[in-house]
Amino acid sequence: MTTRTAQPVQSPHVWPAATARTEEGTLTIGGVALTEIAATYGTPTYVYDEATLRTTARAFHDAFTQAYPKARVVYAGKAFLTTALVRIIAEERLGLDVVSGGELFVGLHAGMPAHEISLHGNNKSRTELAEAIDAGIGKIVVDNLHEIDLLAALTAGRTEPVTVLLRLNPGVDVHTHAKISTGVADSKFGLPIADGQAEAAVARIAQIPGLHLAGYHAHVGSQLFDADATTEAISALIAFAADMRATHGVELEQLSPGGGFGIAYVDAETPIPVATWATLIADAVRDACAAHDLPLPTLTVEPGRAIVGPAGIALYEVGSRKDLAGIRTYVSVDGGMADNIRPTLYGATYTAEIANRAGESDSAEKVTIAGKFCESGDLLIEDIALPRLEAGDLLAIPAAGAYCLAMASNYNLALKPAVVLVRDGAHRLIRRRETYADLLHLDVE
Ligand code: LLP
Repeated sequence: MTTRTAQPVQSPHVWPAATARTEEGTLTIGGVALTEIAATYGTPTYVYDEATLRTTARAFHDAFTQAYPKARVVYAGKAFLTTALVRIIAEERLGLDVVSGGELFVGLHAGMPAHEISLHGNNKSRTELAEAIDAGIGKIVVDNLHEIDLLAALTAGRTEPVTVLLRLNPGVDVHTHAKISTGVADSKFGLPIADGQAEAAVARIAQIPGLHLAGYHAHVGSQLFDADATTEAISALIAFAADMRATHGVELEQLSPGGGFGIAYVDAETPIPVATWATLIADAVRDACAAHDLPLPTLTVEPGRAIVGPAGIALYEVGSRKDLAGIRTYVSVDGGMADNIRPTLYGATYTAEIANRAGESDSAEKVTIAGKFCESGDLLIEDIALPRLEAGDLLAIPAAGAYCLAMASNYNLALKPAVVLVRDGAHRLIRRRETYADLLHLDVE
């Protein structure tokens, strides 16, 4: 006797909102069967649920503006950036945070107004800074003294100064993976407050007529499940701002504690609700400003992962299987570290579901999902219980919307996957799959 799983998926909160199974057992997202996606576009394909995307973006906008009326939410485009995505983000009233000339180019191309864009980066080139200034970018978040010299030269003779924030390193420790922790003293990002570099930067900017120092920024880390490090950074930034006001006459007009809002990748993870984040951050700003007798600045938050991560799933086709008695069973899919390097790079964990049929729960077995690339470390999920998978089955991995395709490579000359948007039972391609011709596109013979 076989039994069907009662829920459409094992851990509903890890999946896009409208994930379901048809009577026949096919997994659907946004009313579209993943079998139809695979048949239309092939695999691997990344599928984004537009409703989840919009709901999340709106939730961030509403939560932060309700908790703090002078709040602004800007999407950190490094998590994933395409033209269609930028348009949705802009329609949901979010701005855009970019970290390269490339991201700026795509953001502008998609129609994001330049004044809604901010530019980050620990080694922005002169060209990138010039492009940002020429475009009329909203603000540049200055990371180091070298950048101030570049900006001094680029803005010489301007009548309208360029607005900048200073990225500070508040020396805050944070409980997340070391590779995505950025606020500790030993970090390549931001000017340390502790050793006087931050103050030296303030003094230098104050002498440059082409720059207007509007405030301070810190981003302490990513995939955070508590607000402690963020609120600690806010206190440190505001204390510093009070000092700078007293010693250099610089007013605090804008403040940004960056992004970092964690999401659930697997069942056991419970992210902080956005409304709680908003309240904790708003309270921290108000409390510190009151303590230092400062007027309230505008507040900018920069969620990346939290906006796109939950909306996206990766869809693969199962191929080979290797049973190693007493060791493990490898089931390989047609993608892997070239489209999602996070398990290999950070030991990131994911869950998965069979997508083309419900699978019989009494056939469940523990397997390791391997990628197809020439690295032993190319494993997407180690030790997951799944119905017995056969070649040709479809496997869907949720919470794959952020930092997967954004970090994708052409390793082994893999073709980067197609990206499809689903909504109300309809699907549309928003980025086509690469072709062999694309692999030759840049070669000069
Ligand atoms: N603002 C700044 C200045 C940042 O450096 C970042 C991320 C964000 C905002 C957005 O952070 P989020 O809300 O997405 O956590 N590749 C890693 C994550 C690197 C994050 C880098 N900076 C991963 O896959 O986990």
